Amino acid sequence: MLQHATFPDHEAMSRHAADWLVDRMRQVPEALLCLAAGSTPTRTYHLLAERHAAEPGLFSRLRILKLDEWGGLAMDDPATCERYLRETLVDALNLGDRYVGFDSNPADPEAECGRVADWLARNGPIDTCVLGLGVNGHVGFNEPGPALHPHAHVARLSEASLGHAMLGQAQGRPTYGLTLGMADLLHARNVLLLVSGTAKREPLRQLLEGPIRTEFPASLLALHRDVRLFSDAAAR
Ligand code: GLP
Repeated sequence: MLQHATFPDHEAMSRHAADWLVDRMRQVPEALLCLAAGSTPTRTYHLLAERHAAEPGLFSRLRILKLDEWGGLAMDDPATCERYLRETLVDALNLGDRYVGFDSNPADPEAECGRVADWLARNGPIDTCVLGLGVNGHVGFNEPGPALHPHAHVARLSEASLGHAMLGQAQGRPTYGLTLGMADLLHARNVLLLVSGTAKREPLRQLLEGPIRTEFPASLLALHRDVRLFSDAAAR
C-alpha cells in the first residue's frame, strides 16, 4: 500500500524525509538502510549528514547498502553511485565495513551480483529502502520489460537510464547496470519513495493511476504493505 504525502516544495519534502528516516533509525539503531543515488534524495542525505554532525552517536550502528551502480565505470568516476553516496553521506558517517555495495567495474559482473546477493542473504533483509523513481518507471536498475529479476543482477540499461543527468559528468560510458532486484526491495521492512520535479509528473501519474505491471516496475511497490511516497507539488 502506498501512503502518499505531498509537500509544497523539494526542501519541505527532503526535511520530512530526513525526519522520518531519523525516527526509523532511533527505533532500529542497527538498521540496514538501502540507498538510491540520483538528484532526488541529495538534499535528504545532506540533512542526514547534518544530523550526524550535531549528534555523532546517532548512526553509530547503522549499516548502509548501495542500491545500484553504473557498470563499467571506474569506481572513482565522478558519475558513479559510489562517488555520489560517499560524497553526500557515507564518508561523513565513518561507516567502515558497515557500508556495502557493488563494485562498479568488476572483472566478473555476474559474480559481483552473487557476492552482493550472498551478503544480503546473510545480513538482510533491508530495514528501510530509499528509492527514486525513474522517468520510465524503473526503481534501482530494475528496468521495464516483460519480466523482472528477484535479486541482485546485471541489468541491460534502458535509453532512459543512459540519458540520466548523473552521466553528464562521466569519464567513461556505462555498459550495464548492477542492481538489487524487485524481491529485495519488496522484502524491505519499509520503503521510502521520493518523487520530485516536473519531469516526474507523468511517471508519478502512472504510478498512482496505472495498473501493476512489469513494464512499469515501480508499480509493484503497491504490493508492499508499508511504502511511504513523498512527492513535491512540482511532481503533481
Ligand atoms: C537512476 C538510478 C536510480 C534513481 C533514479 C532516479 O537511474 N538508477 O537509483 O533513483 O534513476 O534518479 P533521479 O532522482 O536523479 O531522478
